[in-house]
Amino acid sequence: MIPDKAPKEDVFHGSEDLKKEAHITSFENYKELYMKSIENPDEFWGDVAKDFFWKTKHTGQFLDYNFDVTKGEIFVKCMEGASTNISYNLLDRNVHERKLGDKVAFYWEGNEPGDELTVTYRELLQRVCQFANVLKSQGVKKGDRVSIYMPMVVELVVAMLACARIGAVHSIVFAGFSAESLCERIMDSQCSLLITADGFYRGDKLINLKLLADEALQKCRDKGFPIEKCIMLKHLSKEAEETSLGSQSPPAKRSCPDLQEKQTGRVKKTRPVPQVPWNPEVDLCWHALVRGASDECEPEWCGSEDPLFILYTSGSTGKPKGVLHTVSGYMLYTAATFKLVFDYQLDDVYWCTADIGWITGHSYITYGPLANGATSVLFEGLPTYPDVSRMWEIVDKYHVTKFYTAPTAIRLLMKYGSEPVQKYKRESLKVLGTVGEPINPEAWQWYYNVVGERRCPIVDTFWQTETGGHVLTPLPAATPMKPGSATFPFFGVVPAILNESGEELEGPSEGYLVFKQPWPGVMRTVYGNHQRFETTYFKKFPGYYVTGDGCRRDKDGYYWITGRIDDMLNVSGHLLSTAEVESALVEHEAVAEAAVVGRPHPVKGESLYCFVTLADGVTYNRTLEAELKKQVREKIGAIATPDYIQNAPALPKTRSGKIMRRVLRKIACDERDLGDISTLADSSVVEQLFQNRCCTAV
Ligand code: WTA
Repeated sequence: MIPDKAPKEDVFHGSEDLKKEAHITSFENYKELYMKSIENPDEFWGDVAKDFFWKTKHTGQFLDYNFDVTKGEIFVKCMEGASTNISYNLLDRNVHERKLGDKVAFYWEGNEPGDELTVTYRELLQRVCQFANVLKSQGVKKGDRVSIYMPMVVELVVAMLACARIGAVHSIVFAGFSAESLCERIMDSQCSLLITADGFYRGDKLINLKLLADEALQKCRDKGFPIEKCIMLKHLSKEAEETSLGSQSPPAKRSCPDLQEKQTGRVKKTRPVPQVPWNPEVDLCWHALVRGASDECEPEWCGSEDPLFILYTSGSTGKPKGVLHTVSGYMLYTAATFKLVFDYQLDDVYWCTADIGWITGHSYITYGPLANGATSVLFEGLPTYPDVSRMWEIVDKYHVTKFYTAPTAIRLLMKYGSEPVQKYKRESLKVLGTVGEPINPEAWQWYYNVVGERRCPIVDTFWQTETGGHVLTPLPAATPMKPGSATFPFFGVVPAILNESGEELEGPSEGYLVFKQPWPGVMRTVYGNHQRFETTYFKKFPGYYVTGDGCRRDKDGYYWITGRIDDMLNVSGHLLSTAEVESALVEHEAVAEAAVVGRPHPVKGESLYCFVTLADGVTYNRTLEAELKKQVREKIGAIATPDYIQNAPALPKTRSGKIMRRVLRKIACDERDLGDISTLADSSVVEQLFQNRCCTAV
């Protein structure tokens, strides 16, 4: 339960100025509205829904649900009977009803300083309509799945909203994932079309995206799932034809027909660009298609519970889960959380540094901000390129007021001290946010003191791909902050802490974080596998949604996330399943068995420590180590690259053969205090592993 009064001691506050304009001005104000959201959700969410356009109104209850597996199938339905279109609400409504046509929707800032573009709401609407017509002309219909594998460019937003406009379901795959991962996701969601780009730069490194996309499509064909259409955006400049990349570059089969034409010119610096492999039977040129398309497109009116998108997230059994979100609930929830958690005001310039390939980018670069008519920075580059002041340079350049990033980025920049931050003024900043993993108090203090100069509240937002939007979070002018705590629930969210037997714990306690009832933005199913949805989130404790995170509640009622309690790791804010990395390792013929655990890392939060038992007759050496690393990168992507690989002639197992990961975690950290190991089948294995520990990352 939320306390009546906020604590006065050991808490931090933002500046008083913020309170003057804030939507929620005090803790009491928060509590009052929170109670309304729980006691009368229909009225609370009904008020939020009033801001949006509904082609037809909903009938019956605002939220209907079953969270109890013992009572039948799990379901959540929001605003049943209503019909709307999310792209209409994000674009047409802002342009025509709210007269925001000339307002900037995105300031695009490229990887290279000086590469920039500005897109207004009117332009975005036109481009979305054009591309929606392109999709239609390619035969994409309501309900069809479209896979998107693109860098951080405005066209990524255009592609996703064009899907939403015609009722197609987008499935975005982060451009850092490998061809294998893309293939797996395309096949799981049975996509009929892929949208990609020629390539992009991450700092100095060229990523030849089209080559990876082609590889993925070939893998799909080999597995009997041919996709016969691939739309490619030319993001890099027209020098593509003339520049040779030597051995890095694939032999071009034929060139993209439009490649000779003048490029959009946004990538100014002349750099090597990939030669793009081109298969005229499959490949279609984005620019050529758009040129012939009308910029008017009547939206497809969708039912509230029609699917909006699928986004894959790691699952503890290894195979990624296609998290499905639906139209109305997701729209209301991302809009409301964006407005209240960042205390959005019309003249704000908001910047979220996440990639759109993750849920944070879906909810808080595209849907939430655009639903509010906000102006955002869309950044393609890295915090450390060309130098470690880049973030603050951008903050000053666009006068960013609300800034949202990940603890891993904060810890990375903190290493360079305050000087690179203080080179820039940052006077415009009002609210700072974090997401993706627990933030350690030291990083919190640095963010608060150095970046925000003690003026900006920090909203430590806890949520998941599955929750659609923030579920535990401070509100900037209302919630006194405690460094490292995600504080209290957002409106409509009812958390509880359970012990191992499923009993709700009251007062200060620690256990499983669960939610007792749905909010509009919660996921509806795992695409194509409702049973997995029920098993993963609802089976352990009937009647509750189980987050998979551990949590502590302190004497003041504040919630503190303690990290995952399933077999998941959080590396730089990205969730990875140990099972997935293990299966990538054992696919190598030299590996008989593998076990992966997390080891704390000062910047990434956790790093991957892999124990491998080799097949008979194989010897461990540096070449094999490099091959294994490469294997994981190719199977999953660079984010899953092992930091440590240790040769493990045997793994610590129980008598029933279960690997004791708890022991491996201790070995990875060189901690000798192993606790109870009486269930170990052979304890000499442990000593051997301690002796062979790797001390340096590979
Ligand atoms: C972790 C990211 C502590 C948590 C939006 C969760 C956090 C997982 C926080 C979801 C936070 C996210 N404090 N831990 N503020 N935010 N997490 O699906 O373990 O990529 O379950 O969604 O990240 O990761 P996902």
